[in-house]
Amino acid sequence: MAMKEDMGDAEISNPRGLAITSTFNVDPADNLTGYKAFTAGAFNFRRDEYFAHITTPKGSHVISVDAFLRALMRDVAWGFFYGTVNFDTVFGTTNYYGEVDMFYGSLNEAFTAEGRDFVERFKSDELMDIFKQMISDWTIEGYDPFAAPQETGTPWGVKDGDNDVAVERQRVTARRMVGLPGDTPVRTDENGFPVNRMFADVDQSQPEVHVEPGFEHEVSAFNLFGYLSRSDVTWNPSVCSVVKDSLFCPTTEEYILPVEHGNDRCEWFIQMSDGISWNIKDGETGRPKALVDMKAGDVACMPADIRHQGFSPKRSMLLVWENGSPMLPDLIRDGKAPNVSVQF
Ligand code: PHB
Ligand code: FE
Repeated sequence: MAMKEDMGDAEISNPRGLAITSTFNVDPADNLTGYKAFTAGAFNFRRDEYFAHITTPKGSHVISVDAFLRALMRDVAWGFFYGTVNFDTVFGTTNYYGEVDMFYGSLNEAFTAEGRDFVERFKSDELMDIFKQMISDWTIEGYDPFAAPQETGTPWGVKDGDNDVAVERQRVTARRMVGLPGDTPVRTDENGFPVNRMFADVDQSQPEVHVEPGFEHEVSAFNLFGYLSRSDVTWNPSVCSVVKDSLFCPTTEEYILPVEHGNDRCEWFIQMSDGISWNIKDGETGRPKALVDMKAGDVACMPADIRHQGFSPKRSMLLVWENGSPMLPDLIRDGKAPNVSVQF
């Protein structure tokens, strides 16, 4: 997802006061599985036929490799995203926009209470380089970590080819709006985006736009439902319109959001079709907070201090509305901006 990352000369915040770790290593392919192993600081990553294994000085962790690759794909494609990307309840990254904390158990009350948590800080581009090599090496031919489970092969087994075409997809980031001259194009059969099997009933007509001469580069419209019906990926908000820091990031969802997203700002959800159930937990501890069932037409605002994960039983359309201002996380941490967007 594109963000307003340009912080100018502003200091990168570092709430844990961690020094930067810059030791990385890539081990050659394993004789048995054919997969490489990766080291970033004191974190080691290894995959076998079914699992991703993470070891740290405070303990080790196992994640089913399909879930791990779906989460890693989002962390890579979104450039560590806004705030925290929890791969599961134990492991993840927190983005400080230029630098990133990678943690084991640090946002899990059960781990912190036992002193079993571990966190290290990296330069974002250096950790991203290792993550990109990992997603490329660990994704085999026929498996697409962006796709709904019913629309892809499986990730299981020993090393067998790759799917770099899928894992190197460029995300859509409109400069102003989809369809404007020189901006990211609308999707059609011809440019490789057929209508998804679950959206066969979506109207594909486009609005008629009659522009006063001289305003051809300023006035435009497109069918957003038709555009989304042609998305080939799931759980991947793309910037479709930009007004200053206001970013409309619609997306199509099917199955489970591969990460528990820990917000560093408020964000709005508008459910455009079908339905998603959201599981909301406290951002710091993981304590359960709420279940939010969204049906078509519902609008919700996620507070800045929670984590959330969505479950979409049918492919659905969701508009994620982000405030891309780089000032927000510090304003909220310092108590100068509220954790919620509205108070009733
Ligand atoms: C979110 O964390 O808010 C989020 C991420 C990906 C999606 C939808 C929502 O597809
Ligand atoms: Fe979120």
